[in-house]
Amino acid sequence: MPIPSGPIPNHVAIIMDGNGRWAKQRGLPRIEGHRRGVETVREITHAARELGVRCITLYAFSVENWKRPAAEVGALMGLLEFFLKRETANLVRDKVRLRAIGRTQDLPEPVRRQLDAAMSETAHFNDYTLVLALNYGSRTEVVDAARSYASALAAGTVRQDDTSWETFARHLYTSGMPDPDLVIRTSGEHRVSNFMLSQAAYAEFVFTPVLWPDFTKVDLLAAVEIFGKRERRFGLTSEQVKSTTSA
Ligand code: FPP
Repeated sequence: MPIPSGPIPNHVAIIMDGNGRWAKQRGLPRIEGHRRGVETVREITHAARELGVRCITLYAFSVENWKRPAAEVGALMGLLEFFLKRETANLVRDKVRLRAIGRTQDLPEPVRRQLDAAMSETAHFNDYTLVLALNYGSRTEVVDAARSYASALAAGTVRQDDTSWETFARHLYTSGMPDPDLVIRTSGEHRVSNFMLSQAAYAEFVFTPVLWPDFTKVDLLAAVEIFGKRERRFGLTSEQVKSTTSA
């Protein structure tokens, strides 16, 4: 794997899109696109770790995805269960912590069981994290966080005067995780689709026309190269950024 010339993002979040179109182009059922997409998940999580990306988040199933045809939803749940069953030993071998964000309590029981097992078997690893966004929606996350925050206020574990982004963000699913530095969306769509809206406040976005099943480590590297050439200003002026980085 060639080494990128610029900085490596600490956290890469990916909106994996285009499985359906990949299958359609080949005259295959949509589920074949998802099946191929799972192989891409394996390749890209491995490649990201090789590059030195410490955290990778994959948008695997949104709160809106339940509205898809029942057969597709069922097949996606089956693929998730299969993936978790097959990959847990590899995550342990590679010392990768698995986390999930979303209303995972509403996933089918067999998926939840595999997920819980994989998360508890890998909970002690600190260097690399694979985060699956499952039954995830950014607005749902804010609602859940607001509920949890209100309970903490009522219980007196936080004080209203102490309300800040930092104290509130501890109630998001992503509590304890770094914000994404780079968000990649495949398949040529230029949308955020209710994904990590607050966490990606200062992320760089890279949109690629490549469909997720065709996305390779070369495409990941290309996105990281683009990221490395961007100037991240976090609200400062370019001059201020240059003076802090050269100091
Ligand atoms: C978007 O493509 C993709 C999804 C809704 C599901 C993504 C799921 C996987 C890659 C497989 C399971 C994941 C893991 C982590 C094992 P689309 O179906 O919307 O494609 P289209 O826009 O071309 O129709």
